[in-house]
Parts: sequence; C-alpha cells; structure tokens
Amino acid sequence: MTQRDNLKRIAILAGDGIGPEVMEQSRRILDWFMAHGLHEVAVEELPYGATAYRTFGAVLPEASWQAARNADAILFGATGGPEYDAIPAAARRGGNLLRIRRDLDLYANLRPIIAIDSLNEASSLKNRVLKGVDLVIVRELTAGLYFGEPRGIERLPDGSRRCVNTHSYTSAQIERVARDAFELARGRRGQVCSVEKSNVMESGAMWREEVEALRGREFRDITLTHMLADNCAMQLVRAPAQFDVIVTDNMFGDILSDGAAMAAGSLGMLPSASLGPIRADGSRQVLYEPVHGSAPDIAGRGIANPLGAILSLGMALRLTMERPDAAAALDRAVRAALAKGVRTRDILHDGMTLVGTHAMGDAILQELERG
Ligand code: IPM
Ligand code: MG
Repeated sequence: MTQRDNLKRIAILAGDGIGPEVMEQSRRILDWFMAHGLHEVAVEELPYGATAYRTFGAVLPEASWQAARNADAILFGATGGPEYDAIPAAARRGGNLLRIRRDLDLYANLRPIIAIDSLNEASSLKNRVLKGVDLVIVRELTAGLYFGEPRGIERLPDGSRRCVNTHSYTSAQIERVARDAFELARGRRGQVCSVEKSNVMESGAMWREEVEALRGREFRDITLTHMLADNCAMQLVRAPAQFDVIVTDNMFGDILSDGAAMAAGSLGMLPSASLGPIRADGSRQVLYEPVHGSAPDIAGRGIANPLGAILSLGMALRLTMERPDAAAALDRAVRAALAKGVRTRDILHDGMTLVGTHAMGDAILQELERG
C-alpha cells in the first residue's frame, strides 16, 4: 500500500513532571537505534502538558492531537502536577490522559512485570518468591468504572450528597480484550488467568462467562483459570511466578499492576503498551508509557529512573517497529547495566552507587555500543 507505507510515525508526548527527563533518555536510545539500522521511522516531539498550556493555551494543542492521532506509536511521558491547579477544568479535560486513551480507543493495556535477578534486593519480596516471575497484566483500558455512566455527585433533598460511578461492560468490550490476552499467551506459556469479582458483581459474572465462552470458541489450546480480584492481589505477593497472562478490567488492572510492580523492584521499572483496534492493513495504533506518573516531587532534578520509559521504547521496537532483535538488544543492555550495579534513586539498595537520569541513559548506550 502506498498510503500506509512502511514508514512508522512516532509521536512523542513528554508531558509533565519527570516526563520530559525520562523521555529525553528514551529519545537518545531511539536515536541510537536509528543510527544503527532502524530505518523508516519518522519521529516528532509534540507540545503537551502544563507547559504547552502556558504557550498555546491548550494542554493538548490541536496540532499535537492531530499528529498523535495519525501516529503509529505515541511515546508518552507523564501527565499531572501542581501546575494543573491553575488551569481551568475544561482545558485540563482537553488534555486528559483518560480522554486520549478513550478517543483513540486504546483498549488493551499490556503491563509486563519481570523480576530481574540483579534487582531482587530492591524488591520487598523474598528472593525465592521472585524466582521465575515473568507475567503480563492485560488491563482493559477504555470502559468499566473509569468511564461508566451515570456518574457524578448529586445533592439529595435532605441536603446530604450521593456519589455514583458505574461499572459497565458490553460483551464486545470483554471479548476484544480477552482475545488479545489469549493471543499474547499463545506466544508465551499458554496460560491466561481471568480476574473479576463474580462472587459479588454481575459485571464480574458476565466477564467470566464471556472469557470462558471465547476460549471455548477460539482458544482451546490455552489454559484458562479464573480468580477473584482480592485473591489475585494476595497471590501476586504470595507467589507471582504462578502467573503468565492476567486479563482483567480497568479498575482491577490499575490496582493489581501497582501491587505487582514490587516484584520488579520498583514502579519505576514498569513499561506499558496500550493497543488500539486492529486496522484494515493489520497494523494497530499503540501508546507506550511508563506505568509511573509525573512525580512532581523529584521533577527537574535529574534523578528520576528512565527505565520505565526506556523499556516502553523496547515494547515499541517489538510491537510497532517489528524489530524483536532491537528490542532484545535493548533488553540485554538494560540488564547488563543493572548487573553492573547502575542504579537510580528509586531502585537503590545498600552498597550501590546512585546515578542520575542522564547517566542511566549513558550506561545503557554504552552497553548497546558494546553489543
Ligand atoms: C495508570 C494511572 C492512571 C489510571 C491515572 C494517572 C489516571 O494510575 O495508568 O495506572 O488510573 O489509569
Ligand atoms: Mg495506576
């Protein structure tokens, strides 16, 4: 096809807080790959966040939005911080990450969690519990409690207030994210654990039925188990190595992925990819972002851990740029740097020397050069 040629369009939305500093390191590594055989990639950095609001009067200026919409991959840094208190609510909503996820229909959020041996000491879990931890949480990202209607806070006749959020899923919304989880498991250890609260919620009961039915129709080669969300929270800290792929709704996925992050030593280590629907030419739009937030308390000091952003770039190399070799090289470089004791503040443990954000980028580039 000439329209959607082989060129991959990468849009960078660095955003707020530590977003720009971690994205800068990710960009250096992307540039390294582009100088070493990664071709047919067009990269564009776009104004986004509180700084964009001050300059352009919009958190997500129209030109940035159009470029992001048309991109194959969006590399997202972070959003939010105290500067937003001064931005009017309507303008804040315009650049809201949830709105971006929803408008681009990025419904399948992949959050891989891998325990790297050299970081075991940084984890709150015991070494024997961390052995073999390599799991992916597939979180539904565009429905459920985050978006259900009705929602809001109302004043009751007696002067008290009532708040409402709605946990709603259609069978199509469950089926499409479950299909991604099954497909993913096919390339891994062939196990999917579906997580809900079918013991108390109708939405959980239907979730379970839909996932089970899909397996029966299309994925009989995959082992499917079901787990209640509260039990899953416990199992993730008791024995996380039991999991291959977990598929769950928006809210449970949000909570469980923060908890599971401790197996990787720190939330700062976690990458993610949010996948949109499969397009006519077989491709799909993906937004890559570290799972951590904008961390305003340490922003601008050059001490943030860029690995969540860098590992997200690794996911982009694999999924969007279809370069598993480059992704594997980056993964080796990160592991080699960590094995040598290179640590940023959030993954520090006793006896290690701290490096800053930029120096962590340097360490990984050095390992890439070494090959
Ligand atoms: C995440 C974050 C977001 C979420 C927040 C920042 C809205 O916690 O991506 O996990 O709840 O989805
Ligand atoms: Mg979260």
